[in-house]
Amino acid sequence: MKNMGKIQQIEEEIKNLHYNPLMAKHSFSDAETKDFFNTFWDIHIKPVIEYSKQMAEKYGAHLEAVWLGAILHDIARLSDEEPHDEVGSKKAYQMLIEKGFNRELAEKVKSIILTHRCRKYPPETLEQKIVASADAMAHFIPPFYFWVGKYSIKNFVEILDGNMRKVKKDYNQKIFFKDEKKMVEEQYKMLKNWFNYK
Ligand SMILES: [Fe+2]
Repeated sequence: MKNMGKIQQIEEEIKNLHYNPLMAKHSFSDAETKDFFNTFWDIHIKPVIEYSKQMAEKYGAHLEAVWLGAILHDIARLSDEEPHDEVGSKKAYQMLIEKGFNRELAEKVKSIILTHRCRKYPPETLEQKIVASADAMAHFIPPFYFWVGKYSIKNFVEILDGNMRKVKKDYNQKIFFKDEKKMVEEQYKMLKNWFNYK
């Protein structure tokens, strides 16, 4: 892999930005941004990177694009800018060009970030589908919804309703591969029971 050292460096850089965030307050949470972002790296970005790399290997995708896309997919959250898919895709593109990556790779990464939420821009390429799937899969890691509950400024019922919507969307619309869907199936059933309070 041609850019391995450079990509490792970016991963380290983005990790450090989560461990030592530049902004003092995030609109999502009343908590210290340090706690909020530290755990966000540990329980979200890190597993998204791992799942993405595994799938890239398994399905024969462009590993560098997928890896960078995973590292940078939520980069706009660090500065609390929404829509974080659209803002983040532009930021990542800029960053990669500045660091000397070629335009073709930077474009691929940009499109991965733009499509990872499966909203306005649905994933089409294998690489886009991989990172969107990995993002959704990481929401099935047990501590994720504890993190949401601990840091959200919403009230309890809003949190449960939001979680229920999210868990259904992730499972039904964001995981594009049969095997990976199977991997989170049990967790999906359990979470649906947890969030069903009515
Ligand atoms: Fe994400």
